Amino acid sequence: MPFTPRSDQQIYRLDYLAPTFTIPHLELHFSLDPEVSRVRSQFKVIVEESIDLPHTIKLHGSKMLFDIQLKIDGKEEDISSLLDEAGNLSLTLNTREQLIEIKNSVSPVANSALSGLYLSRGIICSDCEPQGFRNITLFPDRPDVMTQYRVTLEADQCCPTLLSNGNLVEEGIIDESRHYAVWEDPYPKPTYLFAIVAGDLQYIEDQHIRPDGRPVQLRIYASKENIGACDFALESLKKAMRWDEDRFGLACDLDFYNVVAVDDFNSGAMENKGLNLFNTSCILATKEQATDRDFRFVEAVIAHEYFHNWTGNRITCQDWFNLSLKESLTVFREQEFMSEVEPGIRRIEDVNFLRLHQFPEDQGPLAHAVRPDKLGSIENIYTTTTYEKGAEIIRLYQTILGREGFDRGFARYIKEFDGMAVTVDDLYAAMKMENPRLFENFPLWYSQRGTPKVQVATEYYPDKREMRLSLKQFLFDPVTNELQEPLPIPIKYAFFNRQGEMLLEETYTLTMAHQCLIFHNIDEVPVISLLRDFSAPVTVDYPQSIDDLKILIQYESDYFAKWEAVQKLVERLLFNHSLQRQEQIDMIGDALAPLFQYAYQEPGFAALLLTLPDNDHLFDHLESEEILPLYQIKREVEVGLARRFQEDWRALYNRFQEDSIAARAIKNVALHYLSRLPHESELAVRQYEKADNMTDINAALTALLSNQNPKAKVILESFYHRYEGDTLLVDRYFSLLGRNPNLTMDDVAMISNHPAFDLKNPNRARAIVGSIGRNRIALARIGAPLYRWIGAEIVKVDKINAVTAARLITPFAKLSRLPESLKEEVRAICQEMLNIGEISHNLSDQLKRILL
Ligand code: ARG
Ligand code: ZN
Repeated sequence: MPFTPRSDQQIYRLDYLAPTFTIPHLELHFSLDPEVSRVRSQFKVIVEESIDLPHTIKLHGSKMLFDIQLKIDGKEEDISSLLDEAGNLSLTLNTREQLIEIKNSVSPVANSALSGLYLSRGIICSDCEPQGFRNITLFPDRPDVMTQYRVTLEADQCCPTLLSNGNLVEEGIIDESRHYAVWEDPYPKPTYLFAIVAGDLQYIEDQHIRPDGRPVQLRIYASKENIGACDFALESLKKAMRWDEDRFGLACDLDFYNVVAVDDFNSGAMENKGLNLFNTSCILATKEQATDRDFRFVEAVIAHEYFHNWTGNRITCQDWFNLSLKESLTVFREQEFMSEVEPGIRRIEDVNFLRLHQFPEDQGPLAHAVRPDKLGSIENIYTTTTYEKGAEIIRLYQTILGREGFDRGFARYIKEFDGMAVTVDDLYAAMKMENPRLFENFPLWYSQRGTPKVQVATEYYPDKREMRLSLKQFLFDPVTNELQEPLPIPIKYAFFNRQGEMLLEETYTLTMAHQCLIFHNIDEVPVISLLRDFSAPVTVDYPQSIDDLKILIQYESDYFAKWEAVQKLVERLLFNHSLQRQEQIDMIGDALAPLFQYAYQEPGFAALLLTLPDNDHLFDHLESEEILPLYQIKREVEVGLARRFQEDWRALYNRFQEDSIAARAIKNVALHYLSRLPHESELAVRQYEKADNMTDINAALTALLSNQNPKAKVILESFYHRYEGDTLLVDRYFSLLGRNPNLTMDDVAMISNHPAFDLKNPNRARAIVGSIGRNRIALARIGAPLYRWIGAEIVKVDKINAVTAARLITPFAKLSRLPESLKEEVRAICQEMLNIGEISHNLSDQLKRILL
């Protein structure tokens, strides 16, 4: 069967073999119980005419299955000789059509990996992407085998809610203790989209009326504690449904659409057909518990999972090497949906996220092509490269083809491939059919890893009134360092004169390694704005003068380019060692000064403009020993800016006290600066005390911690005791602690001994280990002991939940940037983790790539 690991433990894309059989129907019966659940499955395998008999196929299984029984055409078989090491079963078929009956057991309560059938706070639920179905029963667990499911769930009456995909067709009582429900999904689907839920759940509901007038009944299910925080998600779902109809003409194909919130979940959420499962962190949202950012996140994830219904479920991936096919289209659609309001600000946030997370990944040892050719572990490509870089590639189609061309190509894709399992090449083919001029080398975006660099130089010839723009592109493989093929890179640009008037705006798509653009009738050296709207996921190397950047800061109308000019200017000045601190402050201050007035017109955008570049972004340019000095410089500059604009910050702080997202954003930027001043140290304390929303509470706590306010620790403890009963807020407590730039090993010890410390719940493990791992300042300051602690915790998580552990490894991926002595120690820590022997395949795959 496809993708049997070769001797190097890797699987290869080109080993793919199409299925040789079909399984039109699957009848599943679950007798559910947290300790031992019994599974019965019944299906006919139909071998294709072209295949010779007897024919052997593989049913995937795993070590989680026990008490297995098999019948072929009613005849009991001895399975012991048919199972391999991993628990897969080789099934030899003697006739074209055979009836397979399987019985097996699984133990939800013992399933700490949270893949397959498991227990989350008393709720029995499932999570199958990519290969969790094999932890439930024996079946071809691959995305290109599509089957119609009929599922019977039988459980205790104390589990009143019984859900699966599709439509409820029957329900009833078995005896005084047990009851059942039967669900039928009319749409054939691959195993990874299967789901069940059984528990004591409550729901809220509403309906959405489709363009043809038919209603879809929408429900969100959650525990009694959580159901009160689901209204925003339900509103978001309705909005997303409407949007997909308006923008892409895609309506919901189901009469019932259910969403369930659970506390223990490996990812953010899962798009199971008609039964989305959500991590509570991606669905619960009330003003008291969630920040404005969390609200946006909930809206985005709800939309994302819903949009998967077309880009993912109706049209799925042929194999997991093509995971990005469904994820990139869906992230892109989600971004477009989220951009309906405040497109400029959303774009900046998306780009900032991409550059903070995906760029470093694509430039380090964990880099992989968006559609890789070989893989150690499928779970390890649920990355920002697959998702966010993938989405940028979809955006490239739109930028190159224009919105109309893109929409035509997309509609063609839907029409052509509905009901099928396809690849990124098929998407390209659909785009090309509708847009024959689409570049032939476009698919290289999927196969080459690394972040392309565009080097720009300009020359002005006053006598000819001519401007020349030389553009070179380079793409080095981040692991082998080889130079790769040039890509089509659309560059949106504009010229401005020194008075800030725009002279021209255009998009040019580079296709070759070196190209030169010549502009005539140019009277003076223009100020050039490059990569407007971040028109391609590349870095641009173009040394621009501080004066030019100031003109762009003031006059650019493109949101991203204006923001980028601030980022570039601040970066340039912070990294300029020949300047005195006061000079840096003055020059940055002069550039920011014109933005204060603007803050009253566009407070939300101004909040972004007035925020200095993210520490992590700055640190990415540095060797690790330069991190602490730069952090210090940035703080001093912020103190200087706080002092110089004290009156302005105060005015903004007082003016924007109203209840709106934009007001809170600018107010909290003002708080950030003012809190840097010793005489303003009470401001955050007062904000914390009187705040009625989590955005303001969070901003106050962050300010208190980062400025080592003497009251910080006491207040943080009071926060913990106030919200002790609220899981997500306890997670927030741990991430505030973990992200604290002043974190010490004593704090780490306190965290390790904390009564709420827990590595079994993925959110908690991420809040603790993940946030400390992302604390680059503490890592730079503490060094080896902190790395050692993180490594040890990752190994503990690995024993419980390998997928979650492997995703916590990122701090170690920056190994090559560490100073020599520390590098050796950290390498040794990675090596020790690898030597433990019992670590999972997921974790060892990551570690091996890091150590290579
Ligand atoms: N397909 C999901 C999403 O992006 C992510 C699934 C991740 N894997 C998992 N085991 N939960 O919407
Ligand atoms: Zn997704």
